[in-house]
Amino acid sequence: MDQALVDELVAAARAARNRAYVPYSHFPVGAALRTRSGRIITGCNVENASYGLTVCAERVAMWKAVSEGETEFEALAVVTADGVSPCGACRQVMAEFAPEMPVFIADLETVALSTTVLDLLPAAFLPDHLEQAAGRA
Ligand code: THU
Repeated sequence: MDQALVDELVAAARAARNRAYVPYSHFPVGAALRTRSGRIITGCNVENASYGLTVCAERVAMWKAVSEGETEFEALAVVTADGVSPCGACRQVMAEFAPEMPVFIADLETVALSTTVLDLLPAAFLPDHLEQAAGRA
């Protein structure tokens, strides 16, 4: 992916991080998805006093995208202060829509890791596996 597009996506994720609602963890995360249609859709983590209801930034971005009719994703950027990796639940949701998608994991200044969904979630359980099982039933 063109470096200018990566930079734009990471900048959008950094801006989204500033909107994180994190009164409990104080651990803001920002995410930005580039859709095949050329849009950037952002997400931040949104916490809740009932802690388990918290939703990660990556899933907020993906739920927003799908709810707006966007299911084809070109790339995802995730930003935290230290450039840490997305959680397992978010990896599974990424794999649902875009197993080959590039993922740019960044901190506040640089991209710490450029990877893909399948590199983050090897031997993933994918929608195809359900279709294969249905074919045998
Ligand atoms: N969090 C994310 O937003 N994305 C991840 O991939 C890991 C964790 C959020 C959830 C919670 O609001 C805070 O980070 C601490 O776990």
